[in-house]
Amino acid sequence: MTAGKFITLEGVDGAGKSTHIPAIARLLQARGKEVLLTREPGGTPLGEKLRELLLHENMHPETESMLMFAARREHIEQVIRPALARGVYVVSDRFTDASFAYQCGGRGVSTAKIGQLEQWVQGDFQPDLTLLFDVPVAVSTQRLAGARNPDRFEQEGADFFERIRNAYLARAGQFPQRFRVIDSGKPIPEIHYELEEILSIV
Ligand SMILES: Nc1ncnc2c1ncn2[C@@H]1O[C@H](COP(=O)(O)OP(=O)(O)O)[C@@H](O)[C@H]1O
Ligand SMILES: [Mg+2]
Repeated sequence: MTAGKFITLEGVDGAGKSTHIPAIARLLQARGKEVLLTREPGGTPLGEKLRELLLHENMHPETESMLMFAARREHIEQVIRPALARGVYVVSDRFTDASFAYQCGGRGVSTAKIGQLEQWVQGDFQPDLTLLFDVPVAVSTQRLAGARNPDRFEQEGADFFERIRNAYLARAGQFPQRFRVIDSGKPIPEIHYELEEILSIV
């Protein structure tokens, strides 16, 4: 059996990841792929408990980093790798690039430390494709305005998200063969069309 593909969605809060997940699943299913949708932090029962802590409990940025990777360790072992081995296409709303963007870019943890955690938890395991939904911070902030109770990350200011956006773009520049950067300021139907093109060849 051919292995599945691991597709990750990245971008700041309000970029449009959740908006496009159903369409991404449909596009892959239309090509006969079995699809598993999952998310980080989370994706397992323990991971979802860690997510609650991560989103609502104040903690040191390095504690935050380690809990993210603790949840990821479970996620890879219990969910992602077994599904890929069964030929399933796994679509995850965020993965390790988010640690480089949020914990390094946003919180100032060194890339060397996050790199060590990455090496420890996943070795050279990487997504096959990463869709970066990129949008100016003013736009994503506007989209989130008036939304439900903001979590610990969503409460941060524009500077925080600016640094995260830049860190994401730097990751995309560093790994161009894996990343596709989507201009998420465009109207939803145009993005859908672009996703259709990208996903027709994975
Ligand atoms: N391309 C777009 N144009 C206009 N509004 C959008 C677009 N993409 C998403 N939105 C809106 O922005 C808000 C945040 O989108 P969402 O998909 O939840 O972002 P994320 O999951 O990346 O945090 C939602 O209200 C959504 O309807
Ligand atoms: Mg979302």
